Amino acid sequence: MTTSENPAIALIGPGAIGTTVAAALHEVGRTPTIFGRSAHEHLELRFDGGHIVVPGPVQTNPAEVEGTFDLVFVAVKSTQVDAAAPWLSALCGNRTVVCVLQNGVEQKTLLAPYVPDSPVLPSVVWFPAQREPDASVWLRGKARVTLPDTPESSVVLAALRDTRCSVDVVADFTSVAWRKLLQNAVAGLMVLAGRRAGMYSRADVAGLALAYLQECLEVARAEGATLGDEVPQEIVDAFQSYPADLGTSILADRQAGRPLEWDSRNGVVQRCARSHGIPTPISDLVVPLLAAASDGPG
Ligand SMILES: NC(=O)c1ccc[n+]([C@@H]2O[C@H](COP(=O)([O-])OP(=O)(O)OC[C@H]3O[C@@H](n4cnc5c(N)ncnc54)[C@H](OP(=O)(O)O)[C@@H]3O)[C@@H](O)[C@H]2O)c1
Repeated sequence: MTTSENPAIALIGPGAIGTTVAAALHEVGRTPTIFGRSAHEHLELRFDGGHIVVPGPVQTNPAEVEGTFDLVFVAVKSTQVDAAAPWLSALCGNRTVVCVLQNGVEQKTLLAPYVPDSPVLPSVVWFPAQREPDASVWLRGKARVTLPDTPESSVVLAALRDTRCSVDVVADFTSVAWRKLLQNAVAGLMVLAGRRAGMYSRADVAGLALAYLQECLEVARAEGATLGDEVPQEIVDAFQSYPADLGTSILADRQAGRPLEWDSRNGVVQRCARSHGIPTPISDLVVPLLAAASDGPG
């Protein structure tokens, strides 16, 4: 470990989100050490007006890790946490802050069992980024994350200070995280249609999206989120304003035949609803179809 002015930073999972954060850190001289599943000599982020190459190599063998880090960003998918467990054990000590760059509202619950001695900091990741066939990552918006107002957040704020990835800290993180979850849940409809954001311009899809979001909103409120009645329509409006070809990571996974984050993005709404006795007729249709698309059989 190093000093708090110059923290030792590791990043697990150099995909779309991981590469973006690694590039933001590298650009200001805080290059993280990168750990992943696939070997790469370097990472490359492309964006409007430029690109950043992050030196590697990406390390792929947890047995070769030599010490722990002050800050570990985890940017594997929620479906990949179990497989990434050897990295977590190797990289995290009892003062390591583990910042989870994932969608979902259960990041702490999911990660904490793997790092019992380290504080786990959830985040909301707001930017769209996609992996390209040449393994570079295309950042399609302004990089921004939101963190809860906890002592550990200062470590991430310091690491990302003056980088192209801005950080907000909010007192009511539950509401922000559920708002993003509503967005993720409705993006799951793209998987069922096999279409990108342009599909929300159809009146029938917009109507379905709105009804699904209203169902999710009731569950979010039962879980303690303070979100107004206007939120479902705002989210539909946002999807209608996106470029028609803008996808979502769960659609990219479906099209590549990879497992889907259906449980952390959609199943969670149904599970939470059950614990509050809230009926979820739309989730009851959407969730099994996403689960089957992800996990089969058939
Ligand atoms: N992409 C977006 O626009 C976006 C926006 C907001 C939030 N998110 C969320 O951010 C999270 C990350 O998504 P993403 O789109 O960045 O995913 P991704 O591009 O698939 O990146 C995941 C990375 O983790 C690596 N990985 C997989 N298993 C691993 C293991 N066992 N050990 C180490 N590394 C491993 C993958 O390696 P390989 O190269 O071998 O696959 C890949 O580099 C997800 O929860 C997603 O929902 C994504």
